[in-house]
Amino acid sequence: MNLLNLAKRRYSCRSFLDKPINKELLMNVLEAGRVAPSAANKQPWTFIVVNEQPLLQQIKSCYGKSWIESAPTVIVICGNHTTSWKRDDGKDHCDIDIGIATDHIALAAVDAGLGTCWICKFDAKKCASILGLPPEIEPMVLLPIGFPADTGNPDRHDSQRLPPDKIIKWNRW
Ligand SMILES: Cc1cc2nc3c(=O)[nH]c(=O)nc-3n(C[C@H](O)[C@H](O)[C@H](O)COP(=O)(O)O)c2cc1C
Repeated sequence: MNLLNLAKRRYSCRSFLDKPINKELLMNVLEAGRVAPSAANKQPWTFIVVNEQPLLQQIKSCYGKSWIESAPTVIVICGNHTTSWKRDDGKDHCDIDIGIATDHIALAAVDAGLGTCWICKFDAKKCASILGLPPEIEPMVLLPIGFPADTGNPDRHDSQRLPPDKIIKWNRW
């Protein structure tokens, strides 16, 4: 599928069918994260696929909103602040790299007929403790993934996005 169409088809899916995702399909989606670019090619990420109970329920409890209940799988996208690239002024590029990898995964999911929703408003400390993460590993995004049971608002790119003339400038501020 053309990339712009794919990007426009992605939406925050918050309701999933009661249908597991087969491993091959999921591995294909995760491959898009694996090949994502990262600063200095540090690849400071780990994708923890959670699809077994009772762990899945525990991870969902880090978010707490009821809509997540229907997700058959949650990918916990973790960043490694030790291996991520730091600029000379100290700026850590881990968050940027994780954003790119997560978006690759979210777009590949659409291409595979799956839905996802980024979740950053979760209890990261609790999540790290449940998964037994080492201190340098930060769980940054919960990405519930599954076959969609809802649809995106077809008007959202007109009604819920800033227009080009508000966000694009040519040659000067
Ligand atoms: C970095 C990031 C964090 C987000 N965190 C949450 C979240 O914690 N809970 C939630 O329901 N949606 C979350 N979202 C989804 C956004 O609200 C959503 O992408 C935005 O409203 C645009 O809608 P759309 O994804 O359907 O196009 C997050 C999205 C991004 C990119």
